Amino acid sequence: MKLPNLKEARNRTSQNVEYVYLKPQNKIKVSNKKYFLKTYGCQMNVHDSEEISYRLENLGYEACSNLEDADLVILNTCAIRENAHDKVFGFLGRCKHLKKIKKDLIVCLCGCMAQEESVALELKEKYPYVDIVFGTHNIHELEEMLESYEGKQDIEVYSYEGKVYENIAYKRDSSIKAWVNIMYGCDKFCTYCIVPYTRGKQRSRKAADILKEVNDLVAAGYQEVTLLGQNVNAYGKDLEEISFARLLEKVAQTNIARIRFVTSHPWDFSDEMIDVIAKYDNIMPYIHLPLQSGSDNVLKRMNRRYTKKEYLELFNKIKKKIKNVAITTDIIVGFPNESDEDFADTLDIVRKCEFDGAFTFIYSPREGTPAALMADDISLRVKEERLQELNNLVNLYSLKNNQKYLNQEVKVLVEGISEKDETKYFGYTENMKLVNITSSQNIIGEIVNVKITEAKSFSLDGEVL
Ligand code: SAH
Ligand code: SF4
Ligand code: F3S
Repeated sequence: MKLPNLKEARNRTSQNVEYVYLKPQNKIKVSNKKYFLKTYGCQMNVHDSEEISYRLENLGYEACSNLEDADLVILNTCAIRENAHDKVFGFLGRCKHLKKIKKDLIVCLCGCMAQEESVALELKEKYPYVDIVFGTHNIHELEEMLESYEGKQDIEVYSYEGKVYENIAYKRDSSIKAWVNIMYGCDKFCTYCIVPYTRGKQRSRKAADILKEVNDLVAAGYQEVTLLGQNVNAYGKDLEEISFARLLEKVAQTNIARIRFVTSHPWDFSDEMIDVIAKYDNIMPYIHLPLQSGSDNVLKRMNRRYTKKEYLELFNKIKKKIKNVAITTDIIVGFPNESDEDFADTLDIVRKCEFDGAFTFIYSPREGTPAALMADDISLRVKEERLQELNNLVNLYSLKNNQKYLNQEVKVLVEGISEKDETKYFGYTENMKLVNITSSQNIIGEIVNVKITEAKSFSLDGEVL
């Protein structure tokens, strides 16, 4: 058994990152077994789940979408806010119930929650029916853990800076667009955020390994890659002679139809990056640029390392240099002792930026982070009112931005049949607007020209041309 440790997880040394090139293993296969995998959290987790699926299917497991049919349940969890926790513990209740009927059911929990000291302890003490717990650093040990499982809870979670594993295979959810990790971990240590503790130190994959992956995806017919990292613009800072701008340029030269990336931090967003994005047609004009707050005082206490003025300058520069760019953001309300004036600054910058969209959150204290120790006299009621006010404003601008496209022609990469309306297809514009499309022909997997006929706050409707 190995339990996580927040103090060790916070540690950053100057040691070089270790690159491990995994070799295929011969494992005993299972037959007639089904797995149910549920994923919470961000794109990294979604992509990690594609690795987990590959590993399980390679062992002979078959995916199922009904919990009741499963022989193996895996919850890939997120620790970013308390409500993510609540959902997982709620789901574990269902697993406990099922285990009473299905004695051989194996329940696994992995992902960022597993990396939290308090969660691992709680699982150990109160949830003995959660059989296998592993963290973000040892997904590649899944097969071994399953093989050696003997009916007694096994927790194996490492709290170290982490390595870079290569030769990872994925069972990708889509055959049209793919996630590509370019880096792992985070060293920014924003004071509210748990990620640097759950994902380890910032470590970049080597450009050659990333490019090989992208080239393989191109050869397999993929149209779009999204480069993934908690802070893509810090890519390469731990390597020699490569920056994110240089990497982007090399990926653009693979000639894949569309390139996206998330997330870019306003800090280290270089002019070179803006120029490269503007220069290549296959780098999509869409930037997710988390603001968090419009108040200098709050930004400082968040350790975000930019001011409201600097954010605005960057925002305006991006808007000016990248044609037709859409910019979305993340905003936290109710950071400890956020005053009315602080909140007014956030509303003010939202009015100035008129974001294409924003993910908004009420601050949630995370154990082990500095902000969790800050005094906070703001009531939950006030925080909820602020969130409501902010959302009203944000939605207004989403709609206003979408209305610009009425009767316009846009290029959409079509991903599938619309979930809400089976007679329509759906896809995203170059600048990441969701479009529901009417077409008499099957257009899945194609980049098509669409005329927009209706604009709503969160999507557009259109007809294929
Ligand atoms: N690496 C990304 C963010 C990853 S987390 C970045 O720096 O931009 C996604 C979003 O969750 C953050 O941008 C932030 O708005 C929100 N978030 C993170 N920690 C939070 C917390 N403790 N409470 C509420 N929201 C939080
Ligand atoms: Fe969290 Fe900040 Fe790192 Fe983003 S940059 S993952 S918000 S610590
Ligand atoms: Fe959640 Fe971990 Fe992502 S905390 S947001 S799953 S990095």
